[in-house]
Amino acid sequence: MIVRVLGSAAGGGVPQWNCACANCNRARIGESPARTQSSVAVSRDGVTWILVNASVDISRQLAQTPSLWPLALRENPFAAVLLTDANVDHTAGLGELRQNPDPLVILSSRATKQLLVTQLAYERFDRAPHHWIDDQRAIEIDSLDIEIIDVPGLLPGYAGRTPARGAVVAYVIRDRATGAQVTIAPVFSDLDERLHAAIADSDLALLDGTFYSDRELHESGVMAKDARWLGHAPVGGSDGTLARIGTLATHCVFVHLNNTNPMLDPLSEAYATVTSAGCKIAEDGWQVSLGGARLAPS
Ligand code: MLT
Ligand code: MN
Ligand code: ZN
Repeated sequence: MIVRVLGSAAGGGVPQWNCACANCNRARIGESPARTQSSVAVSRDGVTWILVNASVDISRQLAQTPSLWPLALRENPFAAVLLTDANVDHTAGLGELRQNPDPLVILSSRATKQLLVTQLAYERFDRAPHHWIDDQRAIEIDSLDIEIIDVPGLLPGYAGRTPARGAVVAYVIRDRATGAQVTIAPVFSDLDERLHAAIADSDLALLDGTFYSDRELHESGVMAKDARWLGHAPVGGSDGTLARIGTLATHCVFVHLNNTNPMLDPLSEAYATVTSAGCKIAEDGWQVSLGGARLAPS
C-alpha cells in the first residue's frame, strides 16, 4: 500500500497569500519547502487511488504527481474521495473535480454530507452520475478495507464551530493482502481512546499537526484564539498529541500544518522535540510504501 501526502499544510498553505510571518517568508524565497493544502492519496497498487480530502490545490498536486496522471483521454484516478470534515480547505477541491463524464464516489459522515450538499458548489455530487456514501462505518474499495471513525472535533467555522456527531472523522485503511494499515487523522480536537487504539494498531499514522501549542496564534500575533477552540489538539505540551502517542511504535507523521507552526522551522525547539521523538513533519510529495509490518520510505 502506498501513502502519499499531496498537500501537507492547513488552510491557507505555506506561504499563505496574505501572510508575512517568518515561515511564510522563508517558503516564499525558497529557504524552506512551500506546502499546499491538506490532502493525501492512498493506493494498493500505485494504479487505483483513494483521495483523502480534496484541497483547492488538487489540480496543482495532481500535475506534480505522475502516478496520478490520466492514461486514457479522460480518466479519473480516484476510486473514491474520502472527506474527514466539511472545512473549506478539505472540500473546495471537489469543485476542481467536477468535469463530467467521470463520476465521483464520495465517502463522508452524514454531518459532512449534509453541510456540503446544501451548498450550490457541491449539490451536484448528490446525484447521478456521482455517488455519495454517508451511511457506512466500513467499506471495501479495491481490496482496501476502510473504516470510518468519529474523532473529537468541531463543525467548520461557517457552521458554528460547535461539537457535533460526525463533525470530524478519521479513516483507518488496511490492505487486505499485506495487512498494512494507515490511520489518517488530519483534524481532531482531542486524541481519544478510540483514535489512540487505531494509531497503535497501524503501521503509519498521519496526524493533526496544525498547531504546536495551544497559545500559538496568540503568541504569533495572528489572532487571539486557542488551538483547541479552533478544533485542533496541539502537538506539544503535557496533554498534546506527542505526549499522548508516547512510546507507540507506530510511525507518526504530522500533516495539516498551519503556517504559524514553529515545527516548520528546522532550527526551532518544536522541530527538535518532534523529530527527536521519532515523528516526522510532512512535506508535500512525501510518500511511503507499507507492506505488512515493514515500513519502507521511498
Ligand atoms: C481548520 O482546519 O481549522 C480550518 O480549515 C480553518 C480554515 O477555515 O482555514
Ligand atoms: Mn483545515
Ligand atoms: Zn504565515
